[in-house]
Amino acid sequence: MGLSFPPLTAAQFAKICKIALDEAGLNLLPTKQTMVATRLGRRLSRLAIDSYDEYLALVDAPDSHERLRMVAALTTNVSRFFREAHHFELLRRQILPELIAAARSGQRVRLWSAGCANGQEAVSMAICLLDQEPAAHLLDIRILGTDFDPSVVRYAQLGTYHHSMLGGLTGDQVARYFTKDTSARSYRVDVRITQMTLFRDLNLHGHWPMPGRFDAIMCRNVAIYFDRAHQDALWRRFWSKLTLDGHLFVGHSERVPSGFGYQAHSTCHTAYQRSRA
Ligand SMILES: C[S@@+](CC[C@H](N)C(=O)[O-])C[C@H]1O[C@@H](n2cnc3c(N)ncnc32)[C@H](O)[C@@H]1O
Repeated sequence: MGLSFPPLTAAQFAKICKIALDEAGLNLLPTKQTMVATRLGRRLSRLAIDSYDEYLALVDAPDSHERLRMVAALTTNVSRFFREAHHFELLRRQILPELIAAARSGQRVRLWSAGCANGQEAVSMAICLLDQEPAAHLLDIRILGTDFDPSVVRYAQLGTYHHSMLGGLTGDQVARYFTKDTSARSYRVDVRITQMTLFRDLNLHGHWPMPGRFDAIMCRNVAIYFDRAHQDALWRRFWSKLTLDGHLFVGHSERVPSGFGYQAHSTCHTAYQRSRA
């Protein structure tokens, strides 16, 4: 079947846009119509379905798993260890020393990678923690990674990365925090990282079952897909999930507007601290 699908009709595209907005706040611009046809064409091939109409009927079926899969297929899962490295420098220099001291005195520390893709962001945070406190995994420090795409969450849960995905890590970090598998094509994260991280399915626009607050949230290169209303709702929800002086990191082309109770760090326009009571 390949990728020889006809273009989407205006009605089909409008229907897909509505589902993507309702389910996940995705703002699909008209310029994305070809991209949408290509991505969904791959789903059709995979499911051996011949037409978009047949596919959309499957998406519309009650309790359809394909609804979420369709929306997930419309976003990109690209990530990288230590992506936007200045955030991890800020974390190391200004945020972690205090959090590690708190954890050493018995307090709980929680970090969240929201829209974690294959888990590289959460693993990078774990490496920063272990660099500063090699026994961090024995303290009450946990890093939650969540994504609405079940396939990337499963990947992150396995904790095994193909060697082509190790970009962003130094040789020393690979040696200290990964074990080569027997074929030498994949690298498994250290058990200390596995102990500190937890990966779960979660739609950022759905229910958040986590009871406590987070000391830092990274939600980077995720909100860029959302329309303004869903972005604003997210900044408000993150605010109420942060500890009183918790930190929020967003992607390089994202900004949290003023009026949401955050103050940008003086050295970085995409890192914020909760500022309003
Ligand atoms: C480009 S990746 C960013 C990964 C990582 N945060 C980074 O910056 O490297 C965007 C991720 O956000 C996820 N995502 C998009 N919309 C989402 C939503 N409504 N709820 C949860 N995850 C979502 C996608 O599945 C994808 O894995």
